[in-house]
Amino acid sequence: MSEHTNSIKHVASPLARQTLLDGTLTRPVAGRRPVRILPWLQVVKIGGRSIMDRGADAILPIVDELRKLLPEHRLLILTGAGIRARHLYGVGLDLGLPVGSLAPLAASEAGQNGHILASLLAPEGVSYVEHPTVANQLAIHLTAARAVVGSAFPPYHHHEFPSSRIPTHRADTGAFLLADALGAAGLTIVEDVDGVYAADPNAPGGEKAQFFREMGAAELANHKGTLPFDRALIEVMATARHLEHVQIVNGLVPGRLTAALRGEHVGTIIHTGARSA
Ligand SMILES: Nc1ncnc2c1ncn2[C@@H]1O[C@H](COP(=O)(O)OP(=O)(O)O)[C@@H](O)[C@H]1O
Ligand SMILES: [Mg+2]
Repeated sequence: MSEHTNSIKHVASPLARQTLLDGTLTRPVAGRRPVRILPWLQVVKIGGRSIMDRGADAILPIVDELRKLLPEHRLLILTGAGIRARHLYGVGLDLGLPVGSLAPLAASEAGQNGHILASLLAPEGVSYVEHPTVANQLAIHLTAARAVVGSAFPPYHHHEFPSSRIPTHRADTGAFLLADALGAAGLTIVEDVDGVYAADPNAPGGEKAQFFREMGAAELANHKGTLPFDRALIEVMATARHLEHVQIVNGLVPGRLTAALRGEHVGTIIHTGARSA
């Protein structure tokens, strides 16, 4: 059905005659909480530098823990990039490549790490799936298997924001965007530290840094120093629609990931801007 009011042809719709830029007009239609697409899903992001780059000593115990978690949870395991992406950044920046060219190069390392994990979990029916499969066929894959592995990097490529020469939206941001968009039950970020400290605990003098058990994303936005995740994660947490918190856990301590997925507070919990329904 269409009607002709001025020179524009409108289709009958609550948003037909509105600019999408006026919040007061769009809110009655767009202000509602979106549905949870996969409410039973647990998303686990495995660090590239903190876990994968350490090789067998760190990877095999995590794989063992993931394997034991499969009967309990349906998992989307997302891997980040580590040392090879840093090398790529170094070479690419030296050559003057723009950020939109560097982003997919780093993302390819996150994918490589995913392939490694998926190979180790293959006997359990776990496989690596590419972004289009995550976007369109995750439900069917997770009906066939208890878990799948994917790259945590968002597929921005040349759409990466040119706000810095190093891509700002990396694995932590990508994992959060995906988990929140899917309405997942939780996101756990696996690192090689117990959680977030006032300063890098591995830097000189860092052993005295205060540990934060729990904090809000807004509070974190005022934190000036380094963090064990992308700063862009703080921004996307502020506008979260579903995930009310994320937990950062130490993947080098056996049992921490399992406890986190069971809802225990074993690392740093960061509260997002999402409100419970
Ligand atoms: N405020 C902080 N709290 C905790 N760890 C921090 C902090 N700042 C820096 N780090 C460092 O971040 C490291 C993890 O590096 P990161 O680049 O996040 O790894 P990954 O690629 O695996 O996510 C930790 O080992 C720790 O040394
Ligand atoms: Mg990290």
